[in-house]
Amino acid sequence: MSITNREFSKRRKDLMSQMESNSIALLASASPSVRNNDAEYQYRQSSDFYYLTGFAEPRSLLALIPGRRQGEVVLFCQEKDKEKELWSGFILGPDAAISELGIDDAYPIEDIDDIILGLIEGRDRIYYSMGKDDDFDDRVMEWVKVIRTQAKIGPHPPSEFQVLDHLLHELRLIKSTAEIKLMKKAAEISAEGHKAAMAICEPGIREYELEAELLYSFTRNGSRSPAYLSIVGAGDNACTLHYDSNDAEVKEGDLVLIDAGCEYEYYASDITRTFPANGKFTPEQKAIYEIVLKAQEAAIKAVIPGATWDAPHNASVKVITKGLVKLGLIQGTPSQLIKDLAYRDFYMHRVGHWLGMDVHDVGDYKIDNHWRLLEPGMVTTIEPGIYISPTNTKVSKKWRGIGVRIEDDVLVTKTGNRILSTGIPKTVQEIESYMSELSS
Ligand code: GLY
Ligand code: MN
Ligand code: MN
Repeated sequence: MSITNREFSKRRKDLMSQMESNSIALLASASPSVRNNDAEYQYRQSSDFYYLTGFAEPRSLLALIPGRRQGEVVLFCQEKDKEKELWSGFILGPDAAISELGIDDAYPIEDIDDIILGLIEGRDRIYYSMGKDDDFDDRVMEWVKVIRTQAKIGPHPPSEFQVLDHLLHELRLIKSTAEIKLMKKAAEISAEGHKAAMAICEPGIREYELEAELLYSFTRNGSRSPAYLSIVGAGDNACTLHYDSNDAEVKEGDLVLIDAGCEYEYYASDITRTFPANGKFTPEQKAIYEIVLKAQEAAIKAVIPGATWDAPHNASVKVITKGLVKLGLIQGTPSQLIKDLAYRDFYMHRVGHWLGMDVHDVGDYKIDNHWRLLEPGMVTTIEPGIYISPTNTKVSKKWRGIGVRIEDDVLVTKTGNRILSTGIPKTVQEIESYMSELSS
């Protein structure tokens, strides 16, 4: 199960069909990044670059030149080097890249400065992702400068520079059948991980032991990396939105919030579950949990083609505001409280974000300053939450330190939606019976 060369080729064609005539697009691979001294972070190809090539090696550059007779798709990559491969592993090399990746031409990256000038000169426009990688920005400008200095005797340098992101990211926003299959697989692997962590949870365990269980489960099932740093927050830590130190002890009576998702074949999942460490919700935890669950159900229901992007968010705000009023955590009429954003003390983020190759995936949320409409093939997370700060003295003590988020991955279909992240206990009853079965 993976993306075929045919699909990679279609993506390039779709992008090129939207580029102006006589233009060139340049995309660089991700740079390896140093963790400390000689140790590097695990290399992960840039999503944009991988989306168009299926090529995972660093030190590469892709040039797309629509209409170029000698070949529209040109890759620069590392040359084969037996000595280097002995140390660092297999290098595909330009010759094999042509047939393996189904591209038109490939050259050693060492020769790029000589060859790329001939590809750029005479074109009116360069598309590239400017302002993200200083080194790449500098290199592109250097190439343009060289062409300009030679312009009196040769072809003109490009005079238009356009950010590539918008065209490319609109393509990435709508997922193909093959992409949806990979995202479903990623969600399935993550679901197993969540269940495994829930299964070993008990008071006295450390948050990082739950994280270890998740990561072990992800890896055992074929994922080579989580899609983002896992959040495992027990008790008050569940109220810190980006908590990732994951080193506290889980205490009796704590809720545990786990926000973790694996990456599978370059596609992310992003799932949150919140459950009681000892398997049984307290009345206060249950009351908050039920509101968040109801908010999530209402938001998921609002994920339908033709709805505006913020319809699910508004649905969640309504349920959460009403719920908080009912519990006496805020006072007033819900419609006025919504206008006053009173829920923001407890629910301070939006209901979701695009999901795809990146966990916070690309694609605009607004078009011409208006929320865009949902379309089949888009995938969004739906993740409402209520977080009652342990220092919130405006509410009675029994509520403080309760943090709940429930997050699933939802595909917009032609007729409504499909939840990709299924199979993990979610209702109070499901969670309590899953955890009590495990301990009996
Ligand atoms: N895990 C990141 C997020 O939920 O947005
Ligand atoms: Mn998440
Ligand atoms: Mn998320």
